[in-house]
Amino acid sequence: MRPLIAPSVLASDFANLQSEVEMLNKSQADWLHIDIMDGRFVPNISFGFPVMEAIKKHAQKPMDVHLMIVEPELYIERFRAAGADTITVHIEACNHLHRTIQQIKATGAKAGVALNPHTSINLLEDVIEDLDLVCLMSVNPGFGGQKFIENTYRKIEALKNMIISRNANTLIEIDGGVNEQNAKPLLDRGADVLVAGNFVFSAADPIQTIANLKNVLN
Ligand code: DX5
Ligand code: ZN
Repeated sequence: MRPLIAPSVLASDFANLQSEVEMLNKSQADWLHIDIMDGRFVPNISFGFPVMEAIKKHAQKPMDVHLMIVEPELYIERFRAAGADTITVHIEACNHLHRTIQQIKATGAKAGVALNPHTSINLLEDVIEDLDLVCLMSVNPGFGGQKFIENTYRKIEALKNMIISRNANTLIEIDGGVNEQNAKPLLDRGADVLVAGNFVFSAADPIQTIANLKNVLN
């Protein structure tokens, strides 16, 4: 199966957002990955609702919204209203994860949970069937352009086993430091969705780079 490719708009040229989004529309990208950082959960601030809404106006593909914010339950409905198709919260930011997952689903969005590199996938045992997506962070969240953490491979295998043994319908997304070298080993171990920021947007030909990721198994 071909992977879903979700370029991270964080690495795009914000002064030319419309043309960046139109480039993604034309490309083989499946989703637009939208990184929301609050300067509290992570030591960086990205952008919020107005920018998201501006992207939505031009985007012809689903928006995959990755919330790196504390107390995400306060803003779920607003992110949905701003155009989110999938809403992913960090397990480390949720005191009542089960409730927050149900809250996301009640808006009609798909529900995702993201795990930092140090967080065990075993914490998902009791919610895995409820999840449309698990985002395994392969860098410490907060910045684009960081180096891929190799331990991610082990986590993918263990998570894939959990998903299969529980008969769940959950996609595995890998976020951080993805490139053409690690894409194939990630997919071989069971990844379904590849997020790529710098690798796509700093390439001379982003459309070709997205196609290369999409077709890396061919
Ligand atoms: C990191 C973000 C990632 C990041 C990916 O906090 O969640 O989505 O933008 O960018 P690259 O592919 O450059 O690591
Ligand atoms: Zn992300």
